[in-house]
Amino acid sequence: MKGVVFTEFLGMVEQTFSADMVDDIIDDAQLPSGGAYTSVGTYSHDEMVAIVVALSQRSGLPVPDLVRAFGKHLFGRFVHAYPAFFDGVNDTFQFLAGIEDIIHAEVLKLYPDAELPRFDVEHHDERSLTLLYHSPRHFEDLAEGLILGSIDHFGQPIRLVRDASASDRGQRFHLERHA
Ligand code: HEM
Repeated sequence: MKGVVFTEFLGMVEQTFSADMVDDIIDDAQLPSGGAYTSVGTYSHDEMVAIVVALSQRSGLPVPDLVRAFGKHLFGRFVHAYPAFFDGVNDTFQFLAGIEDIIHAEVLKLYPDAELPRFDVEHHDERSLTLLYHSPRHFEDLAEGLILGSIDHFGQPIRLVRDASASDRGQRFHLERHA
């Protein structure tokens, strides 16, 4: 996992909790890297899991809630860091349907060792969009937070339903426009 994900996560923890909380969870998590991340470095995704679990224990908040909140936060950071990805894009479905072939394809050019999920578009029309997320790292909650961040960003009335019956092909996210 790229260091930028860690630095953004710790930045959110500092903002939402405190700098002491950052130090405490880094200590608790007993990280092989020692918690000194650089944005272009690459670290085991197990470290992210350990940090989030440590934050959950200290804050009393459930891990999925923390990861989802992080996804929303990270999306806002991406909007600032990669404005070119948003040029001429003003629709949530248009943006999300391009995660795999446009956004993450470009990310891979910038960071050739990035470990990215698969986002298949199962269905896309004017009213609804169905995405199938698949990753051996199982960051479904992060994906949900990023999708919610996209919906907020474009400001359109869209409802997100996460399909409970996750198939072995992945986690399905269903988005529907409402009036
Ligand atoms: C401008 C928009 C975006 C940029 C620049 C971006 C970039 C990245 C980067 C750099 C990583 C880390 C790769 C690694 O750790 O090696 C990542 C991972 C990920 N991205 Fe994106 N992303 C964007 C939008 C999205 C959106 C909207 C979603 C959800 C629909 C998404 C879903 C994910 C997930 C779930 C991961 C975690 C890795 C995994 O699940 O295996 N991304 N992305």
